[in-house]
Amino acid sequence: MKVLTGIQPTNLLHIGNLFGALLPAVTLQRDNKLLMMVADYHAITVRQDAMVLRDNILFITAAYLAAGIDPKKTILFQQSRVSAHTELGWIMQTQARMGETARMTQFKDKSGGQEDSASVGLFTYPILQAADILLYQTEGVPVGEDQKQHIEFTRDLAERFNKHFGEVFTIPQPLIRKYGARIKALNEPEKKMSKSAPSAKNYISIMDDAEMIGKKIRSAVTDSMPDISLDEKRLGVYNLLTIYHLITEEPMDEIAARYATKGSKFLKDDLAEALTLYLTPLQAEIKGWLKNKDELQKIIKIGSEAAEELAQKTLVEVKKKIGLL
Ligand code: TYM
Repeated sequence: MKVLTGIQPTNLLHIGNLFGALLPAVTLQRDNKLLMMVADYHAITVRQDAMVLRDNILFITAAYLAAGIDPKKTILFQQSRVSAHTELGWIMQTQARMGETARMTQFKDKSGGQEDSASVGLFTYPILQAADILLYQTEGVPVGEDQKQHIEFTRDLAERFNKHFGEVFTIPQPLIRKYGARIKALNEPEKKMSKSAPSAKNYISIMDDAEMIGKKIRSAVTDSMPDISLDEKRLGVYNLLTIYHLITEEPMDEIAARYATKGSKFLKDDLAEALTLYLTPLQAEIKGWLKNKDELQKIIKIGSEAAEELAQKTLVEVKKKIGLL
């Protein structure tokens, strides 16, 4: 299967990005052709500081590599280096309808009620995302639950285009895992964990140290019931059990049973320790890669050239179908 995914280089990654997208992509890399994208054009839909963005692009590349993305097997590339993304993005803008674009919930979430002053790019970004996916004849897109709507939108656009102009695009499907695709905010477990949250208590960054992890996990909102049980309706507790399961691979019912009478304090203490042990080697790998920025640049450049070649093939087909070539 041909698989593509991307993460925006905004702030540091959190464990939701890790469990929802990055690690699933690393797993899929084994038996599939993977394209792993640094989604920098998506990042600029909200104001970015140029110096910080430049650093974040290298950071995310280092995080991909540290998590196990192998540039010899996988095309690791930077979206803005492949001009076909904005070209197909424009063409797909002429196919997408105002009404369906307006239904995308991320625009409403990300513009935070300030829709009139949000950038037009933030509004049209799902169309660029569709182009990202369709350019490579992608079959599977590993993402977190919050991106499902965008993949469905991509499918609709591709089907409409194929029907109207003739078969060009492969119809992709979202690959959403059972656990890890919807990690909740620690301080508001009814919402998803988010890097742009106003409070750092919302998320665990993959670069948080032991002290920070301890503080955040201990202050995670649970509920007033003294015991621990496996119940999806107990959002905060269920979220902690999910994270525990993802890092230890121990079945969730066994974890819940072990802490049943001990209560949330013990669960939180042990989870904080396990999470620290889990993230420490990843952090060391990332720091190691970041010491060698020239190598990171080289990897991105080579990957982006390989992506460009593939993307151009689809773009030319599209241009022919619609009468531009
Ligand atoms: P972004 O950068 O917001 O998030 C990157 C990935 O992390 C997943 N994710 C989560 N998973 C589980 N729990 C959470 N709390 C959580 N928060 C985020 C997201 O679902 C995503 O998979 N538009 C995309 C980037 C993108 C893309 C693409 C993805 C651009 N083009 C093409 C796939 C294919 C985005 O903003 O992701």
